[in-house]
This record gives sequence, C-alpha cells and structure tokens, in this order.
Amino acid sequence: MTNPKIEFDDRMLSLGLARVSEAAAIASVSLIGRGDEKAADEAAVNAMREQLNLLDIAGTVVIGEGERDEAPMLYIGEEVGTGNGPGVDIALDPLEGTTLTAKDMPNALTVIAMGPKDSMLHAPDVYMEKLAVGPGFSPKLLSLDMSPYERVQILAEAKNCDPSDITVCILERPRHQDMIEQVRSTGAAIRLISDGDVAGVMHCAEAETTGIDMYMGIGGAPEGVLAAAALKCMGGQIHGRLLFRNDDERLRAEKAGISNLSQIYSRDDMVTQDVIFAATGVTSGSLLEGIKREITHITAETILMRSKTGSVRRMIYRVPKK
Ligand code: FBP
Repeated sequence: MTNPKIEFDDRMLSLGLARVSEAAAIASVSLIGRGDEKAADEAAVNAMREQLNLLDIAGTVVIGEGERDEAPMLYIGEEVGTGNGPGVDIALDPLEGTTLTAKDMPNALTVIAMGPKDSMLHAPDVYMEKLAVGPGFSPKLLSLDMSPYERVQILAEAKNCDPSDITVCILERPRHQDMIEQVRSTGAAIRLISDGDVAGVMHCAEAETTGIDMYMGIGGAPEGVLAAAALKCMGGQIHGRLLFRNDDERLRAEKAGISNLSQIYSRDDMVTQDVIFAATGVTSGSLLEGIKREITHITAETILMRSKTGSVRRMIYRVPKK
C-alpha cells in the first residue's frame, strides 16, 4: 500500500533501477540474433518484473507492456515492488527494439524511468508525432506545427551553421516519405533507423558522439514519454502529439484521463516532476555497448540518470555466467 509519508528518494532508488534495467538486458542475451521477437521480449519482461518486485516501492506501471487484457505482465496499472516504500510511477520498455534484438541489429535497449506518483503522462498505446533536439535550445525554438523544412532551417540558424551540417534521425517508414524528402531538400543529412526511437531521441542529447542533431517522425506514444524522461535528465527538448487511427484508440486515451486529444505536449508536460532513468544496451549502438558474452562472464553497460541533479552515470556490470 502507498505510504504518503515516505518520500520518493531518487538517489537511493537509482541504483535499484539500474539493477532492474541490467537484469532485463542480461535475460535477453541468449535471444539476440535468434529471430524470435516474442521470446526475447518475454525474457526481458520476466526479469524486469522479478527485479522490480524486490524494490522497496509501492509502484504502479503507467507506461508498460499494454492494457491489462493484452499483457500478462507489466501491464498498465500493475502494482509492483514490495509495497514498503514510496508510491511511484513507472514507465518501462523491457526491450525497446524487439526486432533489432531478434535480428542482432544496433541500438536495442532496455529502458525504465521512475518518478513520484502522477509525474508522468499516462500515454495510451497509440502513435505519437515527435520532434526532439538536444540541450541548449529554448523549448519554444521548434514546434510540431512547423514543416520539416522549417525545422531544419531554424535549428541551423540557432546553431549558427548551414542546414547541410545538420543530421536528422528518422524512423524508416513509408509514412515518413514526404518528411524525408522535405528534410533532404534543405541539404541536411538523414540517419534512417529501422526501429528504436527512444534511442533515436536520446542520440540528440549527445550530438557530439552520435552525430545526430534532431529527431522527428511518428512512433509509439509510450516511447515518447520514455524519451521525454531521458531528455529531462540529459537536457534537450521533445514535443509530442498523440495520433489516433480509430475510435478504439481515442477511447483508450479517454480512459487514460486525456480529454484534449489534440494537445501538443512539451517534455515537461509529459514528465512533470523529477525522475530517474536507466537504460542498458542489449545490442551495441552509438549510446551504449551491447551485452558482451565471454566464456565465463557477461558484461552489460547501463546509463543511469537523475533529472534533479542532471547527473549521468555510465556503469559496467560484469557477472559470472550462471
Ligand atoms: P518494439 O520494441 O515494441 O518493437 O518497438 C520498436 C519501435 O521501433 C519503437 O521504437 C517505435 O516507437 C515504434 O516501434 C514504431 O512503431 P511502428 O513499427 O509501428 O512504426
């Protein structure tokens, strides 16, 4: 049961969060490159849930594996933790990039964010239009109402560079064809990714390492909230607008308490209080090394962040194989 007298101690809980993320990544290791997305996801979900249930929290999954009737574990609304601790909201994706994992392609991650109760948007499992940049820019610099062409021009101006010096990350999908053409017409470069837009957005926050200045396009709404939590810690801005394909999706949003279906959310609308965030590399990418398998040991790299302090830790965990 939630105990309102116990405060969310982000510092104390952060190491526990890293353990949860590591456990999910390590559990999926034997399924990397095996062509079975479902099995890889299941392994990560089981391990994440088991570790979460060891934490002294009264946690509620607000972004999870789906609605209660479609996800047996870590469904939206599921209560996790020992119950002996602060009430917290949890957003998670035990395997962000199930296809990337199954095909052994770069940038698959396990992702989890935690904050005080009511700190994160309860986004339904629908699409979201997203636009993100790294730190150092006003939240008002760019908007979803601008055309992709304008967005590149304005960012280039703000960075005092030529549009041809900008690289935009976009999910490779037929729905993005017009966006891709508009961005190309500015002279900017495009990094097309086949999956994994949480990593795509996070790349903007480390532009010097990743070479990516801006992310745009349509992807999952749950991933949008997770990306907002990451940028709240790393710096950077994200704008999101939910997209509905039918009445059932609209109903899901209404059930989640969303009344204005066309609202544009800023980073701080999606994540309203300080949170902690952890991600572990499953397959190697520009942000994190993937799980390494040696004969006797397994090694995992985790990024662990707190928005309150803006601290970013990279941790290497090496453990004997079971
Ligand atoms: P999964 O790990 O759940 O497969 O999601 C991968 C992903 O690429 C997300 O990063 C992205 O937000 C979403 O799928 C895009 O959806 P779609 O594949 O329907 O375009």
